[in-house]
Amino acid sequence: MIINKKYLKIKYMQTRLVESKNFYGKPFLKWAGGKTQLLDEIEKRLPKEILENKKIESYHEPFIGGGSVFLYLKSNYEIENSIISDINPELILTYKIIQKEPEKLIKYLKTMKQEYLKLDKEKQNEYYLSVRESFNENVGNINYEKTGKKQIKRASQLIFMNKTCFNGIFRLNSEGKFNVPRGKYKNPKIYDKDNIFEVHKILNDNVIIKTQDYLDSEKEMDKNSFVYLDPPYRPLTRTSSFTSYYKTSFDDNDQKILCEYIQRLTKKNVKVMLSNSDPTNADENDDFFEKLYSEQKIDKVKARRNINSNGGKRNKINELIITNY
Ligand SMILES: C[S@@+](CC[C@H](N)C(=O)[O-])C[C@H]1O[C@@H](n2cnc3c(N)ncnc32)[C@H](O)[C@@H]1O
Repeated sequence: MIINKKYLKIKYMQTRLVESKNFYGKPFLKWAGGKTQLLDEIEKRLPKEILENKKIESYHEPFIGGGSVFLYLKSNYEIENSIISDINPELILTYKIIQKEPEKLIKYLKTMKQEYLKLDKEKQNEYYLSVRESFNENVGNINYEKTGKKQIKRASQLIFMNKTCFNGIFRLNSEGKFNVPRGKYKNPKIYDKDNIFEVHKILNDNVIIKTQDYLDSEKEMDKNSFVYLDPPYRPLTRTSSFTSYYKTSFDDNDQKILCEYIQRLTKKNVKVMLSNSDPTNADENDDFFEKLYSEQKIDKVKARRNINSNGGKRNKINELIITNY
């Protein structure tokens, strides 16, 4: 028998599905700082007992963003309980809708996709702007705890805009409004029905989803917890930073407060992994993190990342993975 690459790939996927609980979800949004590029490096550095047993008792990710690490781990490890959270209520609402109402969400997305793709360029722009306007009109006028019609529509608008906007970034201005222009994708995928159902299954397997500041997650963790932290990057250059309503950018003082939180967790014997940008990419003498995390293990790893504002240029740069074990 000729064993070709495709056959091996299918066999690999089958093994993987048997080993995991029959799900394999991927991020359903493009998210700034997404960690898909870094999964191998992250996995290698998991605590020894997790790698050996392929099991995590209690998983916490308080800066969940696009969730690439969480979804990867849920697809490859047995995780008994997870708590995922983020300060951005729009993002968390979308996770909750996928958890509770995937069919209705897909119905909205299907209609939007059909309506959008049949239009010419100019009309697509008008359509995009009308979705954006409707989304922005309801800022501050939505109950993020509910998962009714209004909330399902909002989640579909967020996914639609995330997949059709310039650079695929969900960024809010100082009034909490989304102001990114339309991107020029010819045939944007917008959504993947099968993947939404995979993520739905994952989110219904003992996963708590919350909107909260990461500092409030501390009380949820104990010695059985493994915590992965992916805070907003320390900007590589001063000009690449931006501040927004949900404070998606951390200044140096925020980084220090985060370090103190990690020190408190370390005292409670909680295992923590943190990723961040390496400031020596921009200034070889910048030893900010070396000093801050002098008591922890710091590894430099290579990652591909957009480093300029137009998003076109992708370079390999160093990132840091810091662990307290
Ligand atoms: C670098 S992103 C995480 C990316 C994620 N690892 C991924 O693969 O997509 C950082 C996230 O932190 C969130 N965030 C910013 N400040 C926060 C805070 N104080 N508490 C909790 N989340 C916060 C942002 O909304 C953003 O989603």
